[in-house]
Amino acid sequence: MSVVRVERRRTVRDIAGAKGKVPIVCLTAYTAPMAKILDPNVDLLLVGDSLGMVVYGFTSTLPVTLDMMIQHGAAVVRGSSRALVVIDLPFATYQESPEVAFRNAARVMQETGAQAVKIEGGVEMAPTIEFLTRRGIPVMGHIGLVPQSVNTLGGFRTQGRDAAAADRLLADARAVEAAGAFSVVIEGTVATVAERISAAIAIPTIGIGASAACDGQVLVIDDLLGAFTEFTPKFVKKYADLAGVISSAAAAYAEDVRSRTFPGPEHVV
Ligand code: KIV
Repeated sequence: MSVVRVERRRTVRDIAGAKGKVPIVCLTAYTAPMAKILDPNVDLLLVGDSLGMVVYGFTSTLPVTLDMMIQHGAAVVRGSSRALVVIDLPFATYQESPEVAFRNAARVMQETGAQAVKIEGGVEMAPTIEFLTRRGIPVMGHIGLVPQSVNTLGGFRTQGRDAAAADRLLADARAVEAAGAFSVVIEGTVATVAERISAAIAIPTIGIGASAACDGQVLVIDDLLGAFTEFTPKFVKKYADLAGVISSAAAAYAEDVRSRTFPGPEHVV
């Protein structure tokens, strides 16, 4: 008799326990087919509200709705079997009060099957993070350049540039940790600040445009694949040129249709 071992899905404890041992590999995903392709290579799939920009064509994440996150989140859970799936709570679904946050986070958990939610904010969001984690909803924090606050930040600017700002970010990280988050994304900060935070807190830091000293890294999948062409942040490393591949394939198809070489005899019954 042979024993088939099925690899189980990662838990928030697995991710939290990786700090200081192995770098945590995270990518965003928004659809089931992409989740299926990425799942064997990552520890965590983040259904980020960046989908507002890379999937829906908005210029910020602010128009993203809870229903969008639930539809895409459920698809990513269906397409994956081993990565931890974390879903962003979008703008205006958690800032109002811990109770509102709980109601919306509970919908995300119930309707998608994901293992955790992510919310943006530091000290000011700590009571909400505590409210959720004490009621069974694991939370990933997100500090630094928090895109849902682009209007109050005055643009997508690197955070932590002076000593006072760096201290505030450290206070944010400590507050998120004390509130019970299992990990925290640090986005768009001066590298030394992310390094200092990673050394100071006991939960894993996941960097994006932050520092190689973070406990893990995350990138938006469309940036990594070269599929998003509107702009490329400095911190992105492109591992492919999918926009070029798709454009060449579409041009070849168009040429075949126009010259009547597609469909060929092998493509028709
Ligand atoms: O929305 C998103 O994709 C994110 C990552 C950039 C961390 O929050």
